[in-house]
Amino acid sequence: MPRNDAPSRTPLSYEASEDIPSNPHVEGSLGDVINTRFGRREVIGGALAVGAMSALVTSYAGVLARPAAAAAGSRFGFREIEAGVDETHHVAEGHDANVLIRWGDPVLADAPPFDPENQTPQAQEKQFGYNNDYIGYFPLPAGSRNGGHGLLVVNHEFTNRELMGPAFLGDSRRAVDNNMAAHGASVIEVRAGTGGWRVVERSAYARRISALSTKMRLSGPAAGHPRLRTRADPTGTRVIGTMNNCAGGMTPWGTVLIAEENFHGYFTGDLEGNPERRNHERYGVGDGYYNWARHYDRFDVSKEPNEANRFGWMVEFDPYDARSTPVKRTAMGRFKHEGAETIVNADGRLVCYMGDDQRFDYLYKFVSDGRVDPNNRAANADLLDNGTLFVARFEPDGTLTWMPLVFGSGPLTPANDFHSPADVLIETRRAADLLGATPMDRPEDVQPDPLSSKVYVMLTNNSKRGDPGQPGVNAANPRAPNPHGHIIEMVPPDGNHAALTFAWDILVKCGKPGDPEAEAMWHPKTSEHGWFTHPDNAAVDGRGRLWIATDGNRPGSHSDRCDGLWAVETAGGMRGLSKHFFRAPVGSELCGPQFTPDDGALFVAVQHPADAGVENWEPFGRNSTFEDPATRWPDFREDMPPRPSVVVITRRDGGRVGG
Ligand code: FEO
Ligand code: CA
Ligand code: CA
Ligand code: CA
Repeated sequence: MPRNDAPSRTPLSYEASEDIPSNPHVEGSLGDVINTRFGRREVIGGALAVGAMSALVTSYAGVLARPAAAAAGSRFGFREIEAGVDETHHVAEGHDANVLIRWGDPVLADAPPFDPENQTPQAQEKQFGYNNDYIGYFPLPAGSRNGGHGLLVVNHEFTNRELMGPAFLGDSRRAVDNNMAAHGASVIEVRAGTGGWRVVERSAYARRISALSTKMRLSGPAAGHPRLRTRADPTGTRVIGTMNNCAGGMTPWGTVLIAEENFHGYFTGDLEGNPERRNHERYGVGDGYYNWARHYDRFDVSKEPNEANRFGWMVEFDPYDARSTPVKRTAMGRFKHEGAETIVNADGRLVCYMGDDQRFDYLYKFVSDGRVDPNNRAANADLLDNGTLFVARFEPDGTLTWMPLVFGSGPLTPANDFHSPADVLIETRRAADLLGATPMDRPEDVQPDPLSSKVYVMLTNNSKRGDPGQPGVNAANPRAPNPHGHIIEMVPPDGNHAALTFAWDILVKCGKPGDPEAEAMWHPKTSEHGWFTHPDNAAVDGRGRLWIATDGNRPGSHSDRCDGLWAVETAGGMRGLSKHFFRAPVGSELCGPQFTPDDGALFVAVQHPADAGVENWEPFGRNSTFEDPATRWPDFREDMPPRPSVVVITRRDGGRVGG
């Protein structure tokens, strides 16, 4: 498939006609025909007018593999909501969107009532943490597909101290411990009933995992390596806590993966003469924005150079066992892990897709050596300790190569200071640099669709692309700068997720349609409410429909709207059409989206309400503080601060969410 390797400077596919099937990866589709006959340059250049395209549709209709889907209408039956900015949340009509649990609500049975001004670490470790991000749904009973009763695992990514109150601000031990206790994850039991969904009180499954006290294990090829040993843990296998758990994933055997993302922000200290200096500099370790080192030497890299090597991993734990020990799986690499969506390959191996969310960093997948045993849960317990980590190189011809990060192969040898598989995993980024991976526009969630086998990559933005001294455009990241983000579609050959070569294409380029500076690419029927910027988290529902949650739409910004949830068509003639389904309150971003197996409920996580961009919101126009927040969502009580919360969305007629 010939492809122009110059950056696409003009929207193409969706400028044509909604009747034109534009998926170039359906064999024999019009996309192939156009690309083969004319090349993308001619299409971009306008040589192929809409009329000519229409003629092609007619003349090639007989050879199209799936022409019927092309002219079909949207697969999303809901009427979209208005994009905009206000103090509360909104959902498409015919649906309810109710707050299920808020920061400070009880998780453990003996949690005290939430008292933000007098918060203690002991209370916070029993209550729902701050900044809910990833949501995983685990049906009860375990192994069922029950869409009305299950466990939610919810990540608590970070803390907004200025909005949380005096108990979280400043350098006191109590303030630091409060912050550490508000990080991590929660396990809650939830059930649908006549009054809607509720949290089950005094559940035996309820659990808080925190940065303060939860004991974890390191496993896999790097566990026990001298570079993971510290004074507190001479074995290099035991570590306290996890932090900056952003997105995640669920394994087919019913465990959860929670990703350690911006771990660098918690470490301070001088790198001069530090034995890990090169490593720490590649991850930005040493210049952290939290003050935990004031009370914990292990977060000072001058005092404990290896502690930062014990973070940046993928953490697995069993939500069905509240006493299980979380395990940091070193085989899955060390980077700013965004998420970990899994899929069982046809040959039984587990494939896990992962983004490293930083400008110019990379896209990864992990392929297990062993096969998933669907009949013996215990047999999968350590499946993630053995496998191969691959990093992506996107080729301009529309293929991508998965390059294995294997010690001893290619440049990953002692000549480049890699002396063991552990070295390759601890310095995953440097290994990927040497292999020539494609620098991306901040890879976030990477979402496979089990029905089509396609995989969607959220690239949230890259305002530095093209800056002096920084990489310019490449085929997969075609805008410089890219303040809006885009979504790439990857297609494994014959649905083989373990394959070394995939095909890829761009699904949408975010930004305002018709704005020449944005160079956005949407289906032309996308309305003024339907477009967005900054894709972050994604979900695919039971019918293979793609839903995108965003982080970066702000009042006064280019998009001048709140973050929220949008539904995006991925195939047929409506491919690239986006509709606005849910809107989050001012200052928040939206995370989580997680459907129940029957699509009867959709859980979303509203992170940091009243925070980002509120200074540009006309009715408020200043920075939020605990005393003076831009919104007091969701309680709207003068004695309550804004509270990150999980919202459950259901359809009033009991049908599937989204129509
Ligand atoms: Fe925590 Fe990449 O978002
Ligand atoms: Ca994210
Ligand atoms: Ca996802
Ligand atoms: Ca985010």
